[in-house]
Amino acid sequence: MPRFAVPALLAIWLSAPALAQEPTAALLPMPQSVVAQQGRFTVSARTAILAYSDDERRAAQRFADLLGRTTNTRLVTGGGAAGAGIAFRTAAGMRTESYRLEVTANGATITASDFAGLFYGGVTLWQLLTARPGLTAEAVIIEDGPRFGWRGLMLDSARHFQSPEFVMRLIDWMAANKLNRFHWHLTDDQGWRIQINRYPRLTEIGAWRTPASAPDAPTLPQTGGYYTQDQIREIVAYARERAIEIVPEIDMPGHALAAVRAYPELGTGVEPPSGIESDWGVFPYLYNVEDGTFIFLENVLDEVLALFPGRYIHIGGDEAVKDQWRASPQVQARMRALGIADEAALQSWFMARIGRFLDTRGRRLIGWDEILEGGIPASATIMSWRGIDGAVHAARAGHDAVLSPAPVLYLNHRQAGGPEEPPGRGQIVSLADVYAFDPAPTSLTPAEQEHILGLQANMWTEHARTEERVASMMFPRALAVAELGWSPRASHDYAGFVRRLVPQLERLGSLGLQPSVSAFRPVAAERFDPAANRVAVTLSNQAETDVRYTLDGSMPTAASPLYAAPLDLALPTRLRAAGFLGTGALPGELDHSFDSASVRRRDDTQLELCSENIALSLEDDAPAEGERAVFLTDIQNPCWIYEDAPLDGVTAIEIDVGQIPFNFQIGRDIERIRFRPPATPAGEMEVRAGGCEGERIAVLPLGSAVGNPAVTRLRVPIAARRGQADLCFTYTANGPNPMWAIDAVQLVPGS
Ligand code: ACM
Repeated sequence: MPRFAVPALLAIWLSAPALAQEPTAALLPMPQSVVAQQGRFTVSARTAILAYSDDERRAAQRFADLLGRTTNTRLVTGGGAAGAGIAFRTAAGMRTESYRLEVTANGATITASDFAGLFYGGVTLWQLLTARPGLTAEAVIIEDGPRFGWRGLMLDSARHFQSPEFVMRLIDWMAANKLNRFHWHLTDDQGWRIQINRYPRLTEIGAWRTPASAPDAPTLPQTGGYYTQDQIREIVAYARERAIEIVPEIDMPGHALAAVRAYPELGTGVEPPSGIESDWGVFPYLYNVEDGTFIFLENVLDEVLALFPGRYIHIGGDEAVKDQWRASPQVQARMRALGIADEAALQSWFMARIGRFLDTRGRRLIGWDEILEGGIPASATIMSWRGIDGAVHAARAGHDAVLSPAPVLYLNHRQAGGPEEPPGRGQIVSLADVYAFDPAPTSLTPAEQEHILGLQANMWTEHARTEERVASMMFPRALAVAELGWSPRASHDYAGFVRRLVPQLERLGSLGLQPSVSAFRPVAAERFDPAANRVAVTLSNQAETDVRYTLDGSMPTAASPLYAAPLDLALPTRLRAAGFLGTGALPGELDHSFDSASVRRRDDTQLELCSENIALSLEDDAPAEGERAVFLTDIQNPCWIYEDAPLDGVTAIEIDVGQIPFNFQIGRDIERIRFRPPATPAGEMEVRAGGCEGERIAVLPLGSAVGNPAVTRLRVPIAARRGQADLCFTYTANGPNPMWAIDAVQLVPGS
């Protein structure tokens, strides 16, 4: 008899008996209709799986595979003894991707009209069977199908490359949540990731780059990689067996630097400076508009189409700044010859020409919402990223659209505020923020809503250097997207979602996923009272569950005090806290010691940014191997505030600083980045009390930090002051490169 290993988190969840009895407690996304019946069905190694048609056998195979990978129970399709069994049955007349799952004491039957429906029925049965030890499902009838046909995730493999193995794991995680569109961003300024046989330099040159480092820092090793056509064929087949269509993106006419570096004749004649391919931001390098360039693009697309059999081909169209087109006599001459009025219309003409090409190959063009500007064929589908306005305009003009608005569906944003977060965009997009997104906005009429194919979350990887970080930024927020895309609106309920999320994450853990635990981790907000030498601490977590805590250094348990109101703590005190569902502790513990140093310390995530023009959480460029600091800063205005800094008795300030490259293409906005002039060659950190225009109370020369590519501690005595003040931290410099950034500030009391 195979052993059902109860993973730790699931075991905890199961200890909440009231939850485990609910027929829907184990299901994510929530099905349309769940009706409990009498009896229960237990699977054993002798249970037969009955499947006859090709689709039935494929779906059965996936079900058996999921069960095997998560529970070590190996069922054989078509085998087993007579009696209780799991049947996959095809029936005519059901909607696309829909299924009916009936569990009785004698077995389970999944009925659907297509492979996807059979597959999803298997996923649901797998969730029911793994909701408790013993591979037992309560009898139930589930009638289910998706709210939207497009339930997508985008992975940017251009800015940072992920291995084919990782991409296949991601497909597993998507499929287990009934996500069905994998938008694969394969080309961009920083990398060309798809082998094109006819143009080998695309990957020979375009797939590799040396990451940016600060002017005085050591050079970092080359990074990059690409997917061979064989690997892509394997991934596409793997996705198809999991009811996922891959939508490849070949970005044009902008985000084209990798291609232009490889084949300069595709560009406008402006030579890219060396190393520029490791910048982030919006580049000016566009394809030119010569016939030869379209021949190149069509040849590339022909190889792409041969690899990706799906209906949609994404051709980008975003962020194509037209400076080089304006400045190029050749582009201007062609524009005039074509009788095209301006560069926006030229982009429309460009996209329409590619659209017609795709039409001849029987495919549909999809592009970012910029492709609406200047007009586009009605057959084009719009991916609305600049809010949902693009989708509204698209729908009004008769186009289909996918909702993918920044920032709420941009998973490259930090998902919480703590120091544990991987680098990303600074503005926080929490799990609850994603779950609260409404894919049927009231700004659309019912007729316009018909054009909304669904929604998609995007994982851009400028700042996600490792696969672990990509996974933890995507999950668990991708599960909120899955439920928004699949489940009826009436069933949306954040507390219920969080309860069902926990066992689902545990299952995904068996499939190799390490999700972020930030949504569960308690966060402490503190207010220090210097007169009383006490600290008031408020606890909360994003999952909005119970929080329990201890003050004696022990691990919180179900018997620990339940947090209800701010804690009034004497110094020193060690506070440990965890989220709880019922009696089970959730992952992501808070463990923090409040002492006389900690209440006078702020790391970068605890400081306020003076502004959030382009707020980024950026990784240090050193050391090349091992842990690096991460700095939260506004690259357009590096400036931090320590609110209500307790200055009584403080005799010195320590600042941990790092220097990082300014590797951002932000066009003319760079001229808006201003610094006070430096007094020493490397500049100085400056501290002002009473805000950024207040009295300057400390100057810390950066010279001693210049030779250290990692974090350097600067220290300077300050004159005695009383009370509390907002301290403002800025630095002097001759220009934006390198950027200096604060890792932490410590106020040091005198002895
Ligand atoms: C995009 O974020 N540039 C689509």
